[in-house]
Amino acid sequence: MSFRLIDLPKIPDERGNLSFIQEHSHVPFEIKRAYWIYDVPGGETRGGHSYYTNQELIVALSGSFDVILDDGQSTHKVSLNRSYYGLYVPSGMWRHMENFSTNSLALVLASTEFNASDYERDYEKFKQSKQ
Ligand code: TYD
Repeated sequence: MSFRLIDLPKIPDERGNLSFIQEHSHVPFEIKRAYWIYDVPGGETRGGHSYYTNQELIVALSGSFDVILDDGQSTHKVSLNRSYYGLYVPSGMWRHMENFSTNSLALVLASTEFNASDYERDYEKFKQSKQ
């Protein structure tokens, strides 16, 4: 399964809009963990690894940033700047996040509990695993 943007529900309201994510309806995995990235200094990047099994959904809850995805063959840049889009990232994709706007907030829903040994942080090993 490849990466893709998922349209999340948006309930427009004069009092302020509302969006939500529901397991099985909007994410193609059981949600085991949520984490968020915030207070990113200008020019910093996050990520720079792949996961062997973990799948994720990334949402720009506030502000904007770019997610750079590499499947070992080609590289894609996805700009996230709306809180009603989720970027589904399957396992086995090298990724990093960059170009964070001031006060941006990235919510990440994950399919596994945190497990340091699920990370591949060596790009050469990642490339080899794709051959
Ligand atoms: P990491 O995933 O390497 O951050 P990024 O890819 O955004 O640069 O995580 C940074 C640190 O936080 C690392 O020491 C592992 C720890 N961490 C947890 O303990 N639990 C988690 O759910 C996550 C995502 C990270």
